[in-house]
Amino acid sequence: MKLGVIGLGKMGEALVKGLHDQGAPRQYQVEATTRTPETAKEAQQRLGVKTHLDNKKLVENCDVLVLCVKPHQAQKVLEAVAPFLQERHTLISIVASVTTEQLSRWAGGKPAIIRAMPNTPCLIGEGMTVFAAGPGAKSAQVKQAEEIFGTVGKTAVVEESLMDGVTGLSGCGPAYIYMVIEALSEAGVKVGLPRKTATLLASQTLLGAAKMVLTRGVHPAALKDEVTTPAGCTIDGLMALEEGKLRVTLIKAVLAAARRSKSLRGE
Ligand SMILES: NC(=O)c1ccc[n+]([C@@H]2O[C@H](COP(=O)([O-])OP(=O)(O)OC[C@H]3O[C@@H](n4cnc5c(N)ncnc54)[C@H](OP(=O)(O)O)[C@@H]3O)[C@@H](O)[C@H]2O)c1
Repeated sequence: MKLGVIGLGKMGEALVKGLHDQGAPRQYQVEATTRTPETAKEAQQRLGVKTHLDNKKLVENCDVLVLCVKPHQAQKVLEAVAPFLQERHTLISIVASVTTEQLSRWAGGKPAIIRAMPNTPCLIGEGMTVFAAGPGAKSAQVKQAEEIFGTVGKTAVVEESLMDGVTGLSGCGPAYIYMVIEALSEAGVKVGLPRKTATLLASQTLLGAAKMVLTRGVHPAALKDEVTTPAGCTIDGLMALEEGKLRVTLIKAVLAAARRSKSLRGE
């Protein structure tokens, strides 16, 4: 199957690398475009993927297209290739905030449209990509999108009305978590640990806790209770977090980013 990446930037590259690392090139022949010849040449040399500037040729060559340009570039790019997009095409857009209705309109109404929200850990195969089916997208095409992005992490499917919330949670979430890791590392330094050790302790603790939630399928509150011995140390730490309003602050962060995602469309 021929897979075209329109806009081989950071996120496009994460996907291409993931497909490569999973041995998927045998299944997907990837071709890509960029805007400038310098980045096309550099990406082709570095990633070994045929990369050029001709979106029309890419559309003609590929059945599945992944749109990875910046939000302000999406309309122009799609309108330029709309005459060449047919019913045989599936267009998966990772462009933040742009709806499937807008995508379908700009793309001329023929291709099946799927909106996706990946995140940067796709770069190391630990991404979270969420999909919403748009006009013309059948369940087999959504499944295919999940298979493609499944090479760079986990996937889920939601109703499109939830995509701004998804953006605020898993799309932007890595930044919140880096801040948590940074703060825990600072705490480690404060109690006397070398910075490198403190950062290792903070990040591995986060990774371990996340894996406990994912593998044991237990509610996070129950796992928290397991660590919290009566009159022990953890409950004092938890009290400090409650005093600092950690939970409501994180909830507000997701809501603020979701609002921003919505407002980028002028809503
Ligand atoms: N970063 C995130 O965490 C994240 C998460 C989820 C979704 N997204 C979405 O992912 C998209 C891409 O983000 P990014 O960080 O990967 O951006 P990026 O690194 O700037 O990549 C954009 C790419 O699009 C190319 N491009 C621009 N105009 C083009 C055209 N007319 N034809 C072909 N290629 C064109 C650029 O080529 P040149 O380099 O030659 O200009 C560049 O390779 C955005 O829409 C963003 O909303 C990002």
